[in-house]
Amino acid sequence: MGTYTENRPGAINRNYAKLPGSYLFSEIGRRVAAYSEENPGAKIIRLGIGDVTRPLCKAVTDAMHAAVDEMGNEMTFKGYGPELGYPFLREAIAKGDYAIRGADIGIDEIFVSDGAKCDCANISDLFSADAVMAVCDPVYPVYVDSNAMAGRAGTFDPSTGRWSDLVYMPCTEETGFLPVIPDPGEGRKIPDVIWLCFPNNPTGSAITREELTKWVNFANENGSVIMYDSAYEAYISEDLPHSIFEIDGARECAIEFRSFSKTAGFTGTRCAYTVVPRTLKREGASLNEMWARRQSTKFNGTPYITQRGAAAVYSPEGRTQIRENIEYYMSNAAIIRQGLIDSGFTVFGGVNAPYIWLKTPDGMKSWDFFDHLMREFQIIGTPGSGFGPCGEGYFRLTAFGSRENTLEAMDRIKGAF
Ligand code: MLT
Repeated sequence: MGTYTENRPGAINRNYAKLPGSYLFSEIGRRVAAYSEENPGAKIIRLGIGDVTRPLCKAVTDAMHAAVDEMGNEMTFKGYGPELGYPFLREAIAKGDYAIRGADIGIDEIFVSDGAKCDCANISDLFSADAVMAVCDPVYPVYVDSNAMAGRAGTFDPSTGRWSDLVYMPCTEETGFLPVIPDPGEGRKIPDVIWLCFPNNPTGSAITREELTKWVNFANENGSVIMYDSAYEAYISEDLPHSIFEIDGARECAIEFRSFSKTAGFTGTRCAYTVVPRTLKREGASLNEMWARRQSTKFNGTPYITQRGAAAVYSPEGRTQIRENIEYYMSNAAIIRQGLIDSGFTVFGGVNAPYIWLKTPDGMKSWDFFDHLMREFQIIGTPGSGFGPCGEGYFRLTAFGSRENTLEAMDRIKGAF
C-alpha cells in the first residue's frame, strides 16, 4: 500500500497558495485582537466589518418562536425542507421585492440560501476554469478571492496588487466611484462575467437606471453575464433602481444576489437569496437549471425557522419594523458623514448605502490610517486598500454601529485632523 509523500503532485489545490495574506476581515480581526490584548482597558469602537447591531424585529422573532413550536410538535415537525427554499418565502420575495417594482420574477427563479457571501462565491461553479471575470477596483473581496481559489484569476502581482487574469474596472473619484464599461477593443478580453455591486460596498456609490441600462445592453451585446449584488438595496434613499431586473433585457443577462443580513439584521441568523432567471442561457445551457442542480447537490436548504423569520419581513408589521432599523442606521450614516466633514475630511457614500468612504488625511496609506485610528482613538474601520489598489488612500466606516458608539467615535476624532 502506498503512503502519502510530499512528492505526490497535483492532489492539492495550489491556487490557495497564490492568495495574498488572509481574508480582509480576518486580518482586521487579528490586528484588533492583538491590540485589545495589549490594551485590555481600551474601549474599542468597531466600525469596521459591516455587521449589524440592532436586534431582530418583533415580527421576525414572533414568527421564529411560532416556527420553533411547530418543530417541537409531532404534527407540524419538519425534516429536510425543499433545498431551494419553502414556497411561502419564495412567493413573499417574488411579490414583495420584485412584483412591486414591476419586475417579473417567478418563484422558480428564486433560490433561498444561507448567505449572499456564499452564493457569490459558489455561483462561479457554473463557469469554466478559464472564464474571464471583470471586477471593480475597489471591490468586495469575495468575488476576487473565490475566483482566485478556483484558478480563474491567474497569478497575483504584489507590486500592483492585481491578478493577471482578471479584468479590472477602476472606480475612482474621477468616475464618481462607478466602473467604466470595459473596452472590448482589439486584443482585449471581453468579460464572460461582470461583477457589479450597487449600492456599492465599499464606496457607498449608487447607480442610476440610465447607467445600469448601459451595462445590461453591453452584457447582451457581448454575451457577458452580470452578477448583480444588491445586498444593500434597502438603504437606497433616492430614486434609483433597487434591482437589475427593473431594467429591460436584464432577464437575459443577469443574476442578482440579495440578503436579509443588512435588510433585516440576519448577519447571525443567515438567510439570503439569489435570482437566476429561466431566460438566462449561455451556450445553450440554462443557468437557472444549472444553479438548481448545483444547490440541490451541494446544499440542504436554509432552516425552516429562519425562513419563517425571513418571510415575516414582508408582513406589514415586519416592513414597518425593519424600516425603523434601516432609518436608525442611515441616521448613523448622516452623523458620520457630518462629523467627518466637520473634521475636514473628504467624504463619499452614506446617502444610499450604510458605508461611508473617506479620503485619508495627508495622503496617508490606508493601513497606516487604520493603525492610527485604532491606536490613537480606539476606532476600527476598514482600510480602502484591502478592497483593491484603487482603494489605497481611502478608508471605510460602517453605519451599523450603535448610536452611542457612532456619536462617541465622531466625538473622539473631532478637531484631531
Ligand atoms: C463588509 O463589511 O464588507 C460585509 O459585512 C461583509 C459581508 O457582508 O460579508
